Amino acid sequence: MNNDQTRGEPSGAAGFHNWISLAGVVLAAGAFFSFLLLFAMDMRGGSSSPYLGILTFVVAPAFLICGLALMGLGWLWRRRLERRGQPGGSRSLAIDLSRPRDRRNLVLFAVGAAVFLLFSAVGSYRAFHFSESVAFCGQTCHTVMEPEHVTYTASSHAEVACTKCHVGPGPSGYIRAKLNGVHQLVATLRGNYERPVKVPPHPLPSEVTCQKCHRSDRQAGDLVRTYTHYLSDETNTVNTVRMLLNVGGGDPAEGPVRGIHWHTSSGHRIEYVATDARQLVIPWVRLTAADGKVTEFRTAKYTNDPAPEAIRTMDCNDCHNRSAHSFPAPNDAVDRAMAAGRIDPALPFVRSHAIAALTQTNETVAEGLEKIAGSLRAQYTNEARVASVIAEVQRIYTNSFFPRMQADWRAYPDHIGHKNWAGCFRCHDGRHQTADKTRKLGASGCNDCHKIIAQGSGESLAKVEWGGMAFVHPEPSSEGSDPDCFTCHTGGP
Ligand code: HEC
Ligand code: HEC
Ligand code: HEC
Ligand code: HEC
Ligand code: HEC
Ligand code: HEC
Repeated sequence: MNNDQTRGEPSGAAGFHNWISLAGVVLAAGAFFSFLLLFAMDMRGGSSSPYLGILTFVVAPAFLICGLALMGLGWLWRRRLERRGQPGGSRSLAIDLSRPRDRRNLVLFAVGAAVFLLFSAVGSYRAFHFSESVAFCGQTCHTVMEPEHVTYTASSHAEVACTKCHVGPGPSGYIRAKLNGVHQLVATLRGNYERPVKVPPHPLPSEVTCQKCHRSDRQAGDLVRTYTHYLSDETNTVNTVRMLLNVGGGDPAEGPVRGIHWHTSSGHRIEYVATDARQLVIPWVRLTAADGKVTEFRTAKYTNDPAPEAIRTMDCNDCHNRSAHSFPAPNDAVDRAMAAGRIDPALPFVRSHAIAALTQTNETVAEGLEKIAGSLRAQYTNEARVASVIAEVQRIYTNSFFPRMQADWRAYPDHIGHKNWAGCFRCHDGRHQTADKTRKLGASGCNDCHKIIAQGSGESLAKVEWGGMAFVHPEPSSEGSDPDCFTCHTGGP
C-alpha cells in the first residue's frame, strides 16, 4: 500500500483503510466471535438460562452492529477528507514495515486486537456461567424474583439450579425460554411486570424436569404422616392427625400399581381442563386406560366440549406444584413453629394472636415487621416471653410474605391435599361423573387416599388403629357439615 494508490480514490474497499474502520473490524470480529462462542456453549449445555439469550441475541449483535457502523464511519470520514483534498486520513494506514513508527503501531494494534478478542471470549464464557447460576435468576432481578428465590432456598430443591426445572425440552423449549428471558428483562427494566408474578402459563413438562432425577413409577408405598395443629382457643388446644398416606407406585415389579402415584405411572393417561389461570377449578377429566378405553368425567354445570388446546395431561406438577416455592399458609406456619417449640403454646391465645399479627395489610416488609412487634407487644404487656414470639413470627413473615410483589399463600395455591385449597378435590369431590351418570370418578371417599391411624392428643393420640378410623373434626359444630374443608379453612385467620 502507498499513498499514491489511495489518494483520490475515496470509495471502494480501500476506503476502509483507516484506523477507525480497522477498530470497527476488530469490534465486529470480537462480537461475532462471542456470538459463536455463546451460541455453541448454549447448544452444548442443553439446559440453559433464558437470560443468556439476551447476551447471545441482543448484546453480541449490538456490538457487531457497532463494529460495522464504526467501519462505515471510518469510510465516510476518510471520503470526506479525500473530497476536501486532504488525504491525511489515510496516511496513517500507509503501512511501511521499514518505518519503525509503522512497525510499532502495527504491533500495538495486533496486540490490542488479540487482547480484545481474548477478553470477549473470556467475558462471554464468564457471562454464560453467571447467567446459568441461581444467583443470576434469583437475585439479579431482586424484587421480582425474591419470593421465588427465598421459598426455593427453603425447599428440598435448594441445590437444583432454576434452569433445571424452568427450561423445556428441545429447540422449542430453548427458543421459548430465550424469548421469555428477553421479554422478562425488558418488563423488569420498565417496571411493568405482574405483581404477583403469574404461575407459568405453560406448566413445566415434568417428564424432562422432575423425571431427570425422580422415577415416576417408583414404589413409595404407604407413608406415615403426622399433622399437628392447634385450635385458636385460650389454651391453644393441640390436635394431631396421624395417617397412612397411600402414595403407592407404578412399577408392577416392586408392588401393586395403585395409589396416589398411580396417576403418573405409565400405561394410562389422565387429561383435564381447568377454567381458571391458577387451575383451581377442573370441571372436565378424561381417563385413557392402558387398553385404550376412554372415560370422560364432568361436573353437572359443565356441558360444553373443551377446546383441544385447553386440554392438559396430568403430571407431577399438578400435585407437587409447590415443590420448589412453597408459600406456607399462616395457620400452618404458626402451627409448625408451635409444634417445634419455637412459639410457646402455654401463652394464652398465642396461636390466634400470632396469625392475626402475620395477616395485617402492609406495603413493605419493614412495615410488616414493625406491625407484628407492635400488635404482639400490645397483647402481652409485662410478659417476658413475647420477645421470642415476636422474633419467630417475624421470621415466618420474612420467609413467606412479600408485600412488594403481593406474593404470599393467597397468590399461590398448593395442590397437594385438600384442607386449605381444593387440591385433590378439584377432581375427587364425588361430583365428577360420566355424562350418562353411570360412573363416578373414583377414589373420593375419606379412606381411598389415606387411613387415619390416630388422632386428637394425649391418650387418644397414643391409640393407633392400623385399620383406620373416621376423622373426628376438632370443632364439633363443624362435624360432618361439609367435606369441602377449604370452604371454611382458608389458611388464614
Ligand atoms: C424443582 C424444580 C424447580 C426449581 C429448581 C425452581 N422452580 Fe420455579 N417453579 C417450579 C414449579 C413447579 C412452579 C409452578 C408451576 C405451576 O404451577 O405450573 C414454579 C414457578 C415459578 C415462578 C412463577 C411464580 C410461582 O411461584 O408460581 C417463578 C417466577 C419461578 N418459579 C422462578 C424460579 C427461580 C428464580 C428459581 C431459582 C432460584 C426456580 N424457580 C427454581 C419448579 C422449580
Ligand atoms: C436435579 C435433580 C432434581 C430435580 C430436577 C427435581 N428433584 Fe425433586 N428432589 C431432588 C432431591 C435431591 C430431593 C431431596 C431428597 C431428600 O432430601 O431426601 C428431592 C425431593 C423431592 C420431593 C420430596 C420432598 C418434598 O419437598 O416434598 C418431592 C415431592 C420432589 N422432589 C418432587 C419433584 C418435582 C415435582 C420435580 C419437578 C418439578 C422435581 N422434584 C425435580 C432432586 C431433584
Ligand atoms: C396425584 C397427585 C400426585 C402426583 C401426580 C405425583 N405425586 Fe408425588 N406425592 C404425592 C403425595 C400426596 C405425596 C406424599 C406427600 C407427603 O409426603 O405429604 C407424594 C410424595 C412424593 C415424593 C416423596 C416420596 C417419598 O418416598 O418420600 C416424591 C419424591 C414425589 N412424590 C415425586 C413425584 C414425581 C417425580 C411425580 C411425577 C412423576 C409425582 N410425585 C407425581 C402426590 C402426587
Ligand atoms: C385432574 C384430576 C385429578 C386430580 C387433580 C387428582 N386426581 Fe386422583 N385420580 C384421577 C382420576 C381420573 C382417577 C381414576 C379414577 C377412576 O378410575 O374412577 C384417579 C385415581 C386416584 C386414586 C386411585 C388410584 C388407584 O387405582 O389405586 C387415588 C388414590 C387418587 N386418585 C388420589 C389423588 C390424590 C391424593 C390427589 C391429590 C394430591 C389426586 N388424586 C388428584 C384424577 C385426578
Ligand atoms: C383424593 C384423595 C383424598 C381424599 C378422597 C381425602 N383426602 Fe384427606 N388428604 C389427602 C392428602 C393427599 C392429604 C395430605 C396433604 C399433605 O401432604 O399436606 C390429606 C390430608 C388430610 C388431613 C390432614 C390435613 C392437615 O393438614 O391436618 C385430614 C384431616 C384429612 N385429609 C381428612 C380427610 C377426610 C375427612 C376425608 C373425607 C371427607 C378426606 N381426607 C378425603 C387426600 C385425600
Ligand atoms: C363448616 C366449616 C368447617 C369445615 C367444612 C371444616 N372445618 Fe375444620 N375447623 C373449622 C373450625 C371453625 C375449626 C377451629 C379453628 C380454630 O380453632 O382456629 C376447625 C379446626 C380444624 C383443625 C384443627 C385446627 C386447624 O386449623 O388446623 C383441623 C385439622 C381441621 N379443622 C380439619 C378439617 C378437615 C380435614 C376438614 C375437611 C374434611 C375440615 N376441617 C372441614 C371449621 C370447618
